[in-house]
Amino acid sequence: MTTVSETPVPQHGPRLREALRGIPTYKPGKPAGGADGAPAFKLSSNENPYPPLPGVLETALAAAGTLNRYPDMGCAGLVAELAQRYGVPESHLATGTGSVGVAQSLVHATAGPGDEVVYGWRSFEAYPIIVQISGATAVPVPLTEGDVHDLDAMLAAVTERTRLIFVCNPNNPTGTVVRRAELERFLDAVPSDVLVVLDEAYTEFVRDPEVPDGVELYRDRPNVCVLRTFSKAYGLAGLRVGFAIAHEPVANALRQTAVPFGVSQLAQDAAVASLRSEPALLERVAALVAERDRVEAALAAQGWTLPASQANFVWLRLGERTTDFAAACAAAGVIVRPFAGEGVRVTIGEVEANDLFLGAAELFRKGL
Ligand SMILES: Cc1ncc(COP(=O)(O)O)c(C=O)c1O
Repeated sequence: MTTVSETPVPQHGPRLREALRGIPTYKPGKPAGGADGAPAFKLSSNENPYPPLPGVLETALAAAGTLNRYPDMGCAGLVAELAQRYGVPESHLATGTGSVGVAQSLVHATAGPGDEVVYGWRSFEAYPIIVQISGATAVPVPLTEGDVHDLDAMLAAVTERTRLIFVCNPNNPTGTVVRRAELERFLDAVPSDVLVVLDEAYTEFVRDPEVPDGVELYRDRPNVCVLRTFSKAYGLAGLRVGFAIAHEPVANALRQTAVPFGVSQLAQDAAVASLRSEPALLERVAALVAERDRVEAALAAQGWTLPASQANFVWLRLGERTTDFAAACAAAGVIVRPFAGEGVRVTIGEVEANDLFLGAAELFRKGL
């Protein structure tokens, strides 16, 4: 008889999936809070500097009164509101724990070991992570010299094993965009059994009229899915709610693979209240876009060359000077997001934060 003390102790703990080996870990933006109590602004996570839109906090607090209950698993209220807002059938909507949660479900639903997922690179840091977790093979395709998606190269990277393609538009972290004609040409050329995900997390900040709204592109394309979030323009990053618009087979698959009850009632109700607060939203987005334009112009005047951003951040390609630059910004009280050896992404924040950043950038430039 085997006693407890004789039970063999596993040498290496539980066996974990091989696919997880060497997985890149998602690096969250550093929290604000300078050394020695110095003021610090967090411009490292593309968050919205404004508090929740009018009425949203009250709605969320009311929802907090039912925290003993599970949320509505189907997000019926939010789905109905979104269907009306975008003029799409409710069956074409699927919600999730942030758009990154939906992106993960999309990969789960389409790709596994032996399959390939194509995306431009550098782009949103979560793509390689969620692809690797799925066991599929990531196929990153370098951006062009101008830091724009190279759609021709991405098309050339499609094989019979490709199951999904992410097109991040505007692209994180470069803020660059692909325009209507080139995107339509690309979508027409991609095989119809490959899902193309248009990740439009920053769409509200776009001012270039040639950048298409993915919702128009998906309508007659069953293999196109649009990904949106309440985390950026709507300022609900902390509540974790995002959604996809896709034809029924894809939207159904998302409902099958979503984490049950993932979107809290608080998040659902706050999202609905935010959608109903559109005038205030537009005002805030316009103010952030104006700040983006001011920051870009000031950087250009300082002598920096940077790609035009259509998002709520700017991108400075600094190469080997990236970490030094980020350290100089931190010393000035601004936390930015460095990608060592490549560049720095800086979120457009409140005016005071942007001014601090511009001051640090100017000082750094003078020291070059
Ligand atoms: C391109 C892109 N997609 C998706 C997300 C995920 O946002 P969330 O999960 O908060 O909706 C982000 C966040 O930074 C992003 O930059």
